Amino acid sequence: MMKSIFLQTYGCQMNERDSEEVLGMLTAQGYEVADAPERADVILLNTCSVREHAEERAFGKMGELSVLKRERPGLVLGIIGCMAKLHQERIFKRLPAVDLIAGPAELYDLPYLLAEIQEKRQRDGLKTQDSRLMAVNRPFRPLDAKPNGDYRKPGVAAFVTIMEGCDKACTYCIVPKTRGQEISRPAEEIIREINALAASGYQEVTLLGQNVNSYGKRFPDGSGYKGPLGRLRLLEEQPETLLDFPYLLRLIDRRTSVPRVRFTTSHPFDAHQRLFEAMRECRSVCEWLHLPVQSGSNRILRAMRRGYTRETYLDKIAQLRKLIPEISLSTDIIVGFPGETEDDFRQTTSLMREVEYDNAYIFKYSPRPGTDAAAREDDVPREVKEERNQALLALQDEISFTRHRRFEGRTVEALIEGPGKREGQLFGRTRGNHGVILDGPASSVGMALSVRVTRATAHTLFGERCPA
Ligand code: 5AD
Ligand code: SF4
Repeated sequence: MMKSIFLQTYGCQMNERDSEEVLGMLTAQGYEVADAPERADVILLNTCSVREHAEERAFGKMGELSVLKRERPGLVLGIIGCMAKLHQERIFKRLPAVDLIAGPAELYDLPYLLAEIQEKRQRDGLKTQDSRLMAVNRPFRPLDAKPNGDYRKPGVAAFVTIMEGCDKACTYCIVPKTRGQEISRPAEEIIREINALAASGYQEVTLLGQNVNSYGKRFPDGSGYKGPLGRLRLLEEQPETLLDFPYLLRLIDRRTSVPRVRFTTSHPFDAHQRLFEAMRECRSVCEWLHLPVQSGSNRILRAMRRGYTRETYLDKIAQLRKLIPEISLSTDIIVGFPGETEDDFRQTTSLMREVEYDNAYIFKYSPRPGTDAAAREDDVPREVKEERNQALLALQDEISFTRHRRFEGRTVEALIEGPGKREGQLFGRTRGNHGVILDGPASSVGMALSVRVTRATAHTLFGERCPA
């Protein structure tokens, strides 16, 4: 009998890509993808632990889904991804209907884990408690041993995972705990995947990793430059043998034909001149960089253990802008980190004004169990976090509006991703990652059009297609 899977994703782009991989592996095993949980034999939530809010949403959803089991005791419910690794058997306690818990490093085991649950049930009857499985102990995902199968919605832009895990120790962040050790995917596999995507019509790829700038540190076979010092030594002694992220960008630019390449996320500590030069020289690499600063205050940056200061961060931006003046920049910022004073906060607003990001994602600090920051008192009151959050959103709107207005009257290249919200409209993106809305026929989807910008808002550019 054909079985069906429903998978819902929370969290980051990495999780979205992981979900595609899971669907790929399972469809290769004969599963069908269900469009609603009510019609599925297996329901998986691919979860996020980065803030408490994301976790509460997934817990709530799984609670609702548990009811389905009363009618269909044969249903399999699974929590996969970051929450699985972080909470482990506590999930079984809070959600007794859950059958399967598998962490990010165990995603490639899912076809086997599901088959094992099935077998146990056939042998011993349906009782959840006895057929439960938990897989959370791998130190990293075996990126070179992905089971067959892939699943991507047809489209214009695709995600490509290039590395997994995180070896940093930012004090607020749960990711090193949930995603495990850094591991890089062999370059040849990445090139092969991008070439296949380009051949099937994709026009843009976004290279994904928790910190793509440390690509090449460790490969599944044990090779790699090992760490920042190893990287520096190779740069001095045998630069031609150093396979790091800037080199990967050059390989992709040279050996694939995909017109646009983006990447995320970059940790500022590992973003160097060598990266900026590769970005400038590779035609396919878009003029866009997401460089999370988190705070503008040196005191807070130190408490976050970010490894850079406001000054060294600003220096890097200046270096980058010198090489690529039209670069579009975005960032992540946390407000209300423990001990953040009004003065620290002012440092953040002044940094935002100084850099003038095209876009910024603002988050309210959320203590994560087991992190170093969680040992400190979460002492910025909720209202103050909210106020600072609102203030930064308003500030960024003002800056985005100014940044966007520079495009008025100019012609940009917009890669059309799909229809716009209204009938007859198209939605596209510039190389700088600005959303563009224009009128045009659906047949333009997938094309890179020249668009004259007629009007800008804080969030979108509006324009019209230039006569060819
Ligand atoms: N609280 C709030 N925001 C967080 N982020 C990471 N951990 C936390 C936390 N504990 C934010 C950071 C990161 C983004 C993905 O989420 O800004 O860059
Ligand atoms: Fe969430 Fe971070 Fe895990 Fe992505 S890596 S799912 S943002 S906790």
